[in-house]
Amino acid sequence: MASGDAYLALEGLSKDYGVGEPAVDRLDLDIGRGEFVALLGPSGCGKTTTLRMVAGLVEPTGGRIRLGGEDLTAKSVHRRNIGMVFQNYALFPHMSVADNVAFGLEMRGVAGSEVKGRVAEALSLVRLSGYEARRPKALSGGQQQRVALARALVIRPDLLLLDEPLSNLDAKLREEMRSEIREIQRRLGITTVFVTHDQTEALALADRIAVMERGRLAQLGTPEAIYETPASPFVARFVGRINSLAADAGDDGGLRIGGQPIPVGETRPAGTRVTVMVRPQHVALGPSGGLAGRVTGLTYVGDIVQVAVAGEGFAVIAERGTADPSWRGLGVGQEVGVGWPASAALVFPESGDGR
Ligand SMILES: Nc1ncnc2c1ncn2[C@@H]1O[C@H](COP(=O)(O)OP(=O)(O)OP(=O)(O)O)[C@@H](O)[C@H]1O
Ligand SMILES: [Mg+2]
Repeated sequence: MASGDAYLALEGLSKDYGVGEPAVDRLDLDIGRGEFVALLGPSGCGKTTTLRMVAGLVEPTGGRIRLGGEDLTAKSVHRRNIGMVFQNYALFPHMSVADNVAFGLEMRGVAGSEVKGRVAEALSLVRLSGYEARRPKALSGGQQQRVALARALVIRPDLLLLDEPLSNLDAKLREEMRSEIREIQRRLGITTVFVTHDQTEALALADRIAVMERGRLAQLGTPEAIYETPASPFVARFVGRINSLAADAGDDGGLRIGGQPIPVGETRPAGTRVTVMVRPQHVALGPSGGLAGRVTGLTYVGDIVQVAVAGEGFAVIAERGTADPSWRGLGVGQEVGVGWPASAALVFPESGDGR
């Protein structure tokens, strides 16, 4: 997206807490109006720090933040019209649900006569009408999460920031809540940044995913682009399972493993060492042809079965849906030929980490 179209623009945004490496290091990110972007990355990569800088809770040590063309960088928290749901909800335990939700309105000096109606509207949006008088501790985790969401939405924010809002919920509730959040977000058309370290959640929810690595943007793209054309081995490994294979180029430039040719739609100068990455669902196993290997393990995980195969200079995992009968004939120790469609192979410079 051209930066002229950005609604939220982070420009060289940095935070150095003064210990170790900067937590956020010259981050550039453009988000369109009404867009739902997932900020995805491993623990400690700077997701919370980024969100807190946008909210105005952490002061950047460099760069700027623009929202709707306006420079927010020097604006105080309460003058930014931004709703935020924190990693741990951060509800006030001694206050009722209604008072928790009303808090942000009172901070912003909204007239008392208007508060009640706005709180009722926000609670209805998250399907918690009737819970006004309860204390947070008398609510389930999912309900507390919805109060936190109502509290963020009640101010009718220009931007909604969600920091792993589902991390305290069990798997089933998590799935329910994430589709509810997405539904509310679409209905209100509110520009949203959703932090997660769960790649499935990011793939399922986001219009675009921003993958962060050590304080920097590793890749920004649609879920499909991130999964199918990852920009680096880091992104490829972080989003979905993938096999990494060490290969080199032969005299004709074709790539090989242990001297055997492998299917890859490109060539490299003779002697170049590369890392070839292939998703497990693309790995084909046949009675013959391809790389010679032997089945080393079969792991049944319900909907899929993972078949581990190793041979001269390589080890791969192939995945099959358990509804596909082809894996049933396989057993540990059996010889198989390993291949994949050339179009499924991603070639990167040698990553040197042996994975
Ligand atoms: N107040 C602070 N003072 C010093 N260092 C900090 C502070 N807050 C965070 N950090 C460091 O900054 C880095 C980024 O932290 P941050 O909380 O932004 O990560 P995160 O991506 O949100 O991780 P997680 O997924 O675990 O929540 C980490 O190395 C962390 O230790
Ligand atoms: Mg965090």
